[in-house]
Formats: sequence, C-alpha cells, structure tokens
Amino acid sequence: MSKAVPLASRLLPWYADHGRHDLPWRKTQDAYALYLAEIMLQQTRVETVKPYYHRFLARFPHWQSLAGAPLDDVLALWSGLGYYARARNAKRCAEQILAAHGGHFPADLSAAMDLPGVGRSTAAAVLASAYGQQQAILDANARRVLFRYHGLEGLPRAATNERRLWQLAEEETPPNAHEYNQAIQDLGALLCRSQQPQCGCCPLSDLCRGKDKPLQAGASRQARPQRLAVFLGLEDEQGRLLLERRPQKGIWGGLWALPWVEVSSLALSMECCDALLAKAAKEYGVQLQFQRLSKVYRHVFTHFDLQYVILWAGLRVLALGDAASARLISRADSQALGLPSPLRRLLDDGQRG
Ligand code: ADE
Repeated sequence: MSKAVPLASRLLPWYADHGRHDLPWRKTQDAYALYLAEIMLQQTRVETVKPYYHRFLARFPHWQSLAGAPLDDVLALWSGLGYYARARNAKRCAEQILAAHGGHFPADLSAAMDLPGVGRSTAAAVLASAYGQQQAILDANARRVLFRYHGLEGLPRAATNERRLWQLAEEETPPNAHEYNQAIQDLGALLCRSQQPQCGCCPLSDLCRGKDKPLQAGASRQARPQRLAVFLGLEDEQGRLLLERRPQKGIWGGLWALPWVEVSSLALSMECCDALLAKAAKEYGVQLQFQRLSKVYRHVFTHFDLQYVILWAGLRVLALGDAASARLISRADSQALGLPSPLRRLLDDGQRG
C-alpha cells in the first residue's frame, strides 16, 4: 500500500486561502486569551462566543484580574453563554495558575490538564498556539474530519473510537501544530460538517474514505426528555424580585434565579398555587398575595427541555434573613449579577408573560 498522504500537506494551503484568519483569538499568542477562547468555544458556536470574549477580556484582561474578581462578577459576564461550570472553573483555574504556576499557563501538557475544566484537547490547543508546541487537538471538528478521512465506523464520539482518533490526531499533527489545528477546525466547521458535508469543495476529497457518507445519528438526535416547573415571581411594591442563588452544582449553578419547583403538570389549580405560595411564604419569612400565572415558556437545555410557568405574587417582607441565599433585587442591581438568560430577558424586556 502506498504511504498515506499527510493531511497537513493538503490542509495548510486550503487554510491559507479559505481559513477564518480574522477570528479574534487567532490574532493573539497570549495564553490567557487563548485559554479563554477555548473554554468559551466548548459546546458553543463561534458567533455566539465573539461578543462574550471581547467583553470578558476587556473586564478581566489577565489571570490576576480573573482570580481576584468576585464570582458574581464573573458569572454576570458569562450570563447567557450557558454551561456556567466553565465560568466557575475559569476563576479557579486563574487562582491555581497564580498560586502554583507563577502566573503562567503551565507549558507541560499533563500539568495543564490538571487545571479545573481543562481537558486534553483544550490544553493542547493552548500549548500549540501560545507556546508553539507540537500538540494534537481533538475537538468536535477535528474529530469529525479525522473520523471521515480515515474511514472509521460507528460514531465519532464513541468510546471505542477514542484511542484510535487520538493516535491519528497525533500522527497527523505536524510541527507547526498551531496553524494545522486552526486549519482542521476550520475544515470541520466550514466543509466537513456533520450534516451535508461539502465534499465537492474539500481539499481532501480524493483521499477521504468517508466521502459523501452520512454520519450515524448520535444520542443528540433522540428526543430530549421534557421537564415541567413553576417559577415563583415574587415581587415587592418597589418592583424588586426575590432571587435565590442556585447551588453550585446542577442547572444554572451559582447563578441568581427565581425560586422554582418541578411539577408533573402545568395546569395548576388555585389550591396548588396557594399551596406553593404558602410554602414559599414560610420558607422566606414573607407574606405573599397571588397575582396571576404566566403563559407557558420553554427553555432548551442540553439534556432536556424545560417548560415552565411563572406564578406571580405580590410580596411583603416580614423577615428575609441575610444569611439566606435569597435576596430582593431590583432590575438595576440585577445587571451586576449572573442570571440565566431567560430571566435576564424577562427583566430586561420588562416582560410579564
Ligand atoms: N473551536 C474550538 N477552538 C476553536 C478555535 N480556536 N477556533 C475556532 N473554533 C474553535
């Protein structure tokens, strides 16, 4: 069998002509800025990330500023980007880099992978771009390209393919990994897409063993479970809302949100509303007066769909303790806090569904 043609010899000329050279994180070699981009780009589209990346870097331009910032400020700037564990980990990561690595992203792959929220591909992407190391990445785009090009079977994310894909990624990655990594990401994002790959324009197509083959549908194609919830919109006479900080683990971890309970039906009887309000009144030490139920809203999470109504009630404070995780927050003050995007929209639009 003739020796396989290295991917890089085809990819790099294609990248020079067609790559996305003007992405903001492609204009820097600063490890902090590169790290931030890689974290934001995990499971998130480039166009969504761009404005968050600029705002975040302007406010927290280096590890020191991120490490020293209150978590609420960090979450406020992340608000709407989703997967908030990334923001909490970024702050912890900055703290560790100051405490244990002299304020520099570690140049050793395994030390970098010990940082919170930093997996092998993220670590490798930073080391290749910031320090010029020959490090292979395997993000979703690179994974798909290698999977198709080498004619692997099954699913690109299947555990059985993992070891082989990393081996191929390492074999194909040339010394100028920084450029090659960008190139393979761009080929994956622009041409070798999971649906309708553009094989006709692809520089690899005559060598590709997966050309024109549809990818098997993965778990994400299956119907998502549906969950139902009632959010409590408890508002005092000055228009302040009772918000509660969510536990660090789980949905919207560490963000400020309306209190909520999961339910089995959204067709709530008056008795049910009264019972929910009575429980909340007791828990928060407030008096509550039913106002109305909102329309049904929907929010899509990765692993489930949430449909919810907001149970609006007027609130009079009797004894909201300061130790509690609940606070009365005005619209103006809410700007400085991390809020889930549906709540942010509700407050910004003055929407009352
Ligand atoms: N996805 C993950 N890292 C990326 C990068 N550096 N450029 C574009 N998309 C990416």
